[in-house]
Amino acid sequence: MSKVLITSALPYINGVPHLGHMVGCLLPSDIYARYMRMMGNEVLYIAGTDEHGTTSEVGALKEGMGVQEYCDMYHQRHVQTYKDFNLSFDCFGRTSSEQNKEITYHIFEQLDKNGFIEERTIKQVYSIDDAMFLADRYIIGTCPHCGYDKARGDQCENCTKVLEPTELINPKSSVSGSTNLEVRETKHLFLNLPKLEAKLGEWIKTKEPFWPDVAYTIAQKWLKEGLQSRCITRDLKWGFPVNKPGYEDKVFYVWFDAPIGYIGITKQWADEKPTERNWKDWWLNAQNVRHVEFMGKDNVPYHSITFPATLLGTGENWTQVDYLKGMSYLTYEGGKFSKSEKRGVFAEDAVKEFPADYWRYWLMSNAPEGSDSSFSFDLFAGVVNKDLNGVLGNFVSRVLKMTSSKIGNFVPEGGEDTQVEKELIATLQTRVNDYLKYMNEMEFRKAMNELRAIWVEGNNYISVTEPWTVIKTDEARAAAILRNCINLIRIFAILSAPVMPTVSASMLERLGLKAADMPCLQDFDVNKEIKAIKEGTPFEVGEMLFERISPERVEELKQKFGSNK
Ligand code: MF3
Ligand code: ZN
Repeated sequence: MSKVLITSALPYINGVPHLGHMVGCLLPSDIYARYMRMMGNEVLYIAGTDEHGTTSEVGALKEGMGVQEYCDMYHQRHVQTYKDFNLSFDCFGRTSSEQNKEITYHIFEQLDKNGFIEERTIKQVYSIDDAMFLADRYIIGTCPHCGYDKARGDQCENCTKVLEPTELINPKSSVSGSTNLEVRETKHLFLNLPKLEAKLGEWIKTKEPFWPDVAYTIAQKWLKEGLQSRCITRDLKWGFPVNKPGYEDKVFYVWFDAPIGYIGITKQWADEKPTERNWKDWWLNAQNVRHVEFMGKDNVPYHSITFPATLLGTGENWTQVDYLKGMSYLTYEGGKFSKSEKRGVFAEDAVKEFPADYWRYWLMSNAPEGSDSSFSFDLFAGVVNKDLNGVLGNFVSRVLKMTSSKIGNFVPEGGEDTQVEKELIATLQTRVNDYLKYMNEMEFRKAMNELRAIWVEGNNYISVTEPWTVIKTDEARAAAILRNCINLIRIFAILSAPVMPTVSASMLERLGLKAADMPCLQDFDVNKEIKAIKEGTPFEVGEMLFERISPERVEELKQKFGSNK
């Protein structure tokens, strides 16, 4: 058994997540965590809300709340949404926790002691109309590198380059829209990345075989261009006050303490059960831990350069990322998700329309891997009706109904297998091996494609063997066929569990089984599993697993959630 540490990028506290956020890191990390647990690994799966920074101060201001109160409220909403989506975190914490403060302070002190922190007087943008320093995200303007006109002061969304707000052309405040900005001088602390460049370069070389192309290319590009020192403090109130004399009135930059949050949240988790859990077993001088991170592609530079460099600079032996899964973007009905224009599906509303598993399966089988992908209600209904209802749901109900009416509500007894079953088992074994391989490689679209193909094999088998005809002349043979079909339901439930945990449990329940009865996926042997349920075991037919979505319903949904067409 090996230890796998899985993290999802920590969603910003402000606002509620839409489907794009779900598929960008939260959902794939959950599928992978569930899968790795089923492979028999010791998994620690961590995420939480990213709470500091101007975003929260401005958000609270707009909603007329105190920042703490605002974050408490939104944290609860995030928690509820992820619970509704069935995300199986071991801990969903907060970057504003005491634990994270403690670790942030420690890491900063180490960096300072080792000479990687420098003091500089810088020019910062002050908004006269907003009466505040406008950090980063709240200044928008034209990117000096690619000309994108909605670039934010911290990073250009279009070319992924990290920016300083003062580099923007035609800057304005996104709080008020005001262009009445002035540049003021203030003293700040910088992380000296150039001094860490050589160390970082060495470290990245050790990662080559483990990093998917996107992450590796982005990191290499950054190194080639040369690193620049990054300011890690801000003139704000909300955040961790800087633990260095002369800087007490400033706070750490949100991007400094956010990734440290992975560690802080692990400590939060450990503190819940102080005797059995130790956060250091996962993070500091940890043995045999494989660390896998999930994130949207705009987060890759921070996770492959800035954060690893931060940890390297401490001179301590922190767990570093071993594999980085970066996702592209999901678009909505051919355009962008937009809260202000009321276009797009927010996760908390999605689960009010359909069970979470519908969304989980759709999103993963259309995951924006490599390139962007697009959500539309037509596509969604197509997949639910064809793959889920037509293939999987139909197989389950057909098999159980037929067995119930022709033989009885128990797993049929007697009868022999033939060459057809040998072929079925061989085909399934190949497909299962491919499915597991893709899950291992975090190639989710391909994995979902294989999963669907596995369900299709069930329908093929029943069409070829025609148990409804065979039963008229050879009851024993029909019994053997239907028994195999019922065992296939169990196999499908097991393989579908990482992506559709509720549907999987419902399938198992009909057969008198629980999720805890599922075998380890390692060395999954179809030949053995197809005989797992004993003859005579009772079952229940149950309801249809999925509902069909009518064209009228699709139109209604488009109206309700907005469409670009
Ligand atoms: N909040 C950031 C975003 O949503 C991600 C932060 S990831 C962290 O883009 F690790 F730095 F926390
Ligand atoms: Zn740009």
